[in-house]
Amino acid sequence: MKLLYSGKTKDVYELEDGNYLLKFKDDVTGENGVFDPGANTVGLTIEGAGAAGLRLTKFFFEKLKEKNIPTHYMDANLEEATMTVVPATVFGEGLEVICRYRAVGSFLKRYGKYVKEGQALDAFVEVTLKDDERQDPPISEDALDMVGILTKEEYHTLKELTQQIAQVVKDELAKKDVELYDIKLEFGRDANNNILLIDEISGGNMRAYKDGKYIEPLELEKIIVS
Ligand SMILES: Nc1ncnc2c1ncn2[C@@H]1O[C@H](COP(=O)(O)OP(=O)(O)OP(=O)(O)O)[C@@H](O)[C@H]1O
Ligand SMILES: [Mg+2]
Repeated sequence: MKLLYSGKTKDVYELEDGNYLLKFKDDVTGENGVFDPGANTVGLTIEGAGAAGLRLTKFFFEKLKEKNIPTHYMDANLEEATMTVVPATVFGEGLEVICRYRAVGSFLKRYGKYVKEGQALDAFVEVTLKDDERQDPPISEDALDMVGILTKEEYHTLKELTQQIAQVVKDELAKKDVELYDIKLEFGRDANNNILLIDEISGGNMRAYKDGKYIEPLELEKIIVS
């Protein structure tokens, strides 16, 4: 097995058969020991965080499979905290696609002059560039097309898939009286150029609230998977 990339929260290996193996680590993003799903640095290490992230990811990717939504998921090994996936190439050097149901986080920071904290948003989709050096800047459909990262057609495919996937997650959380405020997804292309959901869907990629209170990733895993 060959280590291809060591990320903030996962390591990516190439398997003998060409598939990839994602190893979920106990590192979580945040700043100064406080968890923040929007942060670009590892803020703390929590024992069991990797396994919990994988359990939620497995749960959601299996739901998406039932609904025939294309993803990279093949299988998961919960003891090892690893997941086997279809290798994908990302758009440009990587994009994050965010779907928002309430105004919090970076959206509120940017548009606070015009929106109230927690204001309802209608599955609003926005794309950001994975560019730590430039704090993951948001990018418009026109700009994505102009710089050659996505065609307009691909943009619309991504937007639609994002809203479908976010709705699946939102509905699952709602079954446990948890409300999804926002979620961040990643996509790539497989060897046949099909667009797939890649990476993970765990507490670290979303903001979930119960009775108006933010639910930490480990707590979310307990509520949703058990
Ligand atoms: N099926 C896949 N094929 C190729 N790359 C993938 C696939 N699934 C996930 N990845 C990539 O693997 C990496 C996982 O590592 P991790 O989530 O720790 O990265 P990260 O430190 O958050 O860095 P990044 O800012 O790139 O997400 C991400 O860069 C993600 O885009
Ligand atoms: Mg990541």
